[in-house]
Amino acid sequence: MVASMSTTPSFDLASWSRTRLQQVEDALGAWVPADAPAGLGDAMRYAVLDGGKRLRPLLVLAAAEAVAGDAHAALRAACAVELIHAYSLVHDDMPCMDNDVLRRGKPTVHVRFGEAQALLAGDALQALAFELLLPGDDAMPAAVSAGLCRLLALAAGAQGMAGGQAIDLASVGRALDQAALENMHRKKTGALLQASVLMGAASGQPPEGVTQTLADYGAALGLAFQVVDDVLDVVADSATLGKTAGKDAASDKPTFVSLLGLDDARAYAQRLMERALDALSRSGLPDTQALAALARQVVERSF
Ligand code: IPE
Ligand code: IPE
Ligand code: MG
Ligand code: MG
Ligand code: MG
Repeated sequence: MVASMSTTPSFDLASWSRTRLQQVEDALGAWVPADAPAGLGDAMRYAVLDGGKRLRPLLVLAAAEAVAGDAHAALRAACAVELIHAYSLVHDDMPCMDNDVLRRGKPTVHVRFGEAQALLAGDALQALAFELLLPGDDAMPAAVSAGLCRLLALAAGAQGMAGGQAIDLASVGRALDQAALENMHRKKTGALLQASVLMGAASGQPPEGVTQTLADYGAALGLAFQVVDDVLDVVADSATLGKTAGKDAASDKPTFVSLLGLDDARAYAQRLMERALDALSRSGLPDTQALAALARQVVERSF
C-alpha cells in the first residue's frame, strides 16, 4: 500500500511544479485586469499576484494530468480556484473578520487600499473566477464549463468556504468538539481544496469510481491542510508564514491545536495524509505521483 511506504519518493515535485507555476503566474497576470475602474484593478492584482504557494492551482493541474484532461480547461480552472482563494483571503483578513495586517509577506489589501476597496476587490475576484470558466467562445465545451462552475460555486458558497467562515466567526471563544471542528475545517478550507482536485478531474472524463477516489483524496488532503495551518499558526514565525503567527490563540479561535494539543494535531495530519495516499492507490490511475507528492507537501510544509 502506497500509504505505508517509508522510502523517500523519487518524484521531484519542485521540478514538476516549476513549469506549472510559471504557466499559472503568466495566466493570472494576463487575466486579472489592471484597468478596472478607480484603482480596483490595482487592488485585485495586489491580492492575487506575486505571492502564495499556489497549492490549489497545482492540485487542479495534477488531477487534470492524472486523468489526461484538457490542458486549457485545466489552466482556466486552476486560475479560477486561485481567484476564489485570493478573494477569501482578502475578506478573511478584514477588520470585521480576522483583522490581519500581513498576508503573503505584504500589508493586507485593506491596509494598503482601504476597506471598501478590499471588499470590492474580493467581490470582483469572485466574479472573475466564474468569468474565466465561461470564456464566451469555443475555448471550452459548454458541458465542461458548466460542470466546473457548479463545482466551484458549491465549494465557495454557503455549504463550502463562506459557510465555514461563518462557523469560524460564530465559534470564537467556544470549545468545539472534534466533529464540529472537522465540519468547520472541511467547509472553510477543505471544500475549495477538494474542488481543486475535482475540477482538474472534470477537465477530463474519468469513470465515476475514479472521481470518487479523487474526492476521497481531496477531502483528506483538504482537512489535513487546515490542521497543519492550525499547527503552523502556533509553531512558525510571522516572517516564515508571511502572515501574523499566533493569531488563533490571540483571537480565541477553536483549532486542532486547542482541541488535541500540538503532538496529536500533527499525528492527525499524518493520518489524513495516509488516507489521501490510500485513496490515490485505490484510484487505479496510472500516474498519481504529483498528487501524492502534493499531499506529502501539505503535511510536511513549514509555511
Ligand atoms: C491560507 O491558505 C488560508 C487557508 C485556507 C488556511 P494558503 O496557506 O494556501 O495561503 P497562500 O495561498 O499560500 O497564501
Ligand atoms: C481562513 O482560515 C480560511 C479561508 C477561507 C480564507 P484562517 O483564518 O485560519 O486562514 P489564515 O491563517 O488567516 O491564512
Ligand atoms: Mg479566518
Ligand atoms: Mg485568518
Ligand atoms: Mg489560520
